[in-house]
Amino acid sequence: MSKQRVSRRQFLNYTLTGVGGFMAAGMLMPMVRFAVDPVLKAEAGGDFIATKQKVDELTNEPVRVDFSYEQVDAWYTSEVTSTAWVYKDGNGEIVALSPVCKHLGCTVNWNGDKNHENMFYCPCHGGLYEKNGKNIPGTPPTAPLDVYPTKVNDGILYLGKAEPNNLVK
Ligand code: FES
Repeated sequence: MSKQRVSRRQFLNYTLTGVGGFMAAGMLMPMVRFAVDPVLKAEAGGDFIATKQKVDELTNEPVRVDFSYEQVDAWYTSEVTSTAWVYKDGNGEIVALSPVCKHLGCTVNWNGDKNHENMFYCPCHGGLYEKNGKNIPGTPPTAPLDVYPTKVNDGILYLGKAEPNNLVK
């Protein structure tokens, strides 16, 4: 068995390299973690957001349902409040419409104009939509109101991300 002697100089080199490396890793790790954290973080909350709306309270009359969720934008998290107009159609299916006007983005209201009953009305430029979200020709909007995908869990309405309305022709 051969014995290798470590010189004083080698010992100093090994020690300084080890301590230096340890300190460098200690400084770099938080920086690396800060840089890649949003990329590694899983999307919060899944695709559907819980509302406070009980499904058995829905009728064929659209009601305004407000809901909020956390929005993560890179390193910044904020609470966003959004709205849907929700009702049950003739088949008992839930319809959830976005209130964002397809003209210039104002907010539409159900029965918002007494001259146009049972319609969604946009006060900004007089846009009109049928109950199913279809835009009325001759008014400024050029497309139907977006729809939210819906899900029911424990009798509570969940809404997905609003998407183009393909239900109306
Ligand atoms: S923004 Fe709604 S009609 Fe113009």
